[in-house]
Amino acid sequence: MKPVVLSLGAFPAATVATLAERFEAHHYTVHPLPDGTLSPELKDRIRGIATEANRGATRALIESLPKLEIISCFGVGVDAIDLAAARERGIPVTNTPGILADECADLAVGMMLASARQIVFADGFVRRGEWLKGPLPLGRSVGCKTLGVVGLGGIGRAIADRARAFRMNVIWHGPRPKPDVPYEYVSDIVELARRSDYLMVACRGGPATRGLISASVIDALGPKGTLINISRGSVVDEDALIARLRDGRLGFAALDVYENSPRIKPDFLTLPNVILQPHQGSATMETRTAIGQLMIDNLTAHFAGRPLLTPVA
Ligand code: 8YV
Repeated sequence: MKPVVLSLGAFPAATVATLAERFEAHHYTVHPLPDGTLSPELKDRIRGIATEANRGATRALIESLPKLEIISCFGVGVDAIDLAAARERGIPVTNTPGILADECADLAVGMMLASARQIVFADGFVRRGEWLKGPLPLGRSVGCKTLGVVGLGGIGRAIADRARAFRMNVIWHGPRPKPDVPYEYVSDIVELARRSDYLMVACRGGPATRGLISASVIDALGPKGTLINISRGSVVDEDALIARLRDGRLGFAALDVYENSPRIKPDFLTLPNVILQPHQGSATMETRTAIGQLMIDNLTAHFAGRPLLTPVA
């Protein structure tokens, strides 16, 4: 008998097919899962959860599944999984490190370039026929400017390395300095923002980083600064960000993540100085398929009694 797995997410077709092949997979794309979707009989049979990083698994869900043995996350960030609830039951959690950093870094750098060179605005400028009336207002350089990276994990490091190729001066902040990093460490995040032209948020989400990009950090970045967020919406004080984008205390922002996605704050939609992306850092066919395979390989290893490939510590 195949193990029963609850599959939560809009996974690539190949992932859905392999899940169905290897497990008795009950697949739901709707989020959040409406109450009563899972019958008591099904809840009693579920042994594994396969879940998107941004959907995670709540304490209520974990506690409602008496036979749950493993949670396998489709993505690297596990901030939406109630790790304490899993730990209390001895349920291992796996994620997918090492395979999506380059993809996320490509989007982050693309968002920085799109902000500086007005790529989104300029497209509308041509389509609306405004070019016939005069030239595009001038953009800003990235070369020789300072990029501050918040969080130098896999994604932050891939962003920093790309920025170096653009001849940017890279500085960074995190909880502690790291050996063998060719970039200047700045221990005070307000100081990092003050020195940055572009501030790239690439740290992990969760309680430790909630509100890290505070009103003071945004003020330090200032009217000529650009904030790019590829991490999690919870890291940024969104109300402070909206207020400062609106009155020009912050120059520009480019966001891939939000506190409550996809139902983002309507104020964001009205601001001309922000580029909005639908949490698509890892969203290529190649990378999402690789993420799905690693998620499934962890489930397969667990049910075969083999060591997990990428357990969360
Ligand atoms: C996920 C992510 O792929 O890895 C993460 O932490 O947020 C994304 O890469 C995304 O949540 C899929 O929905």
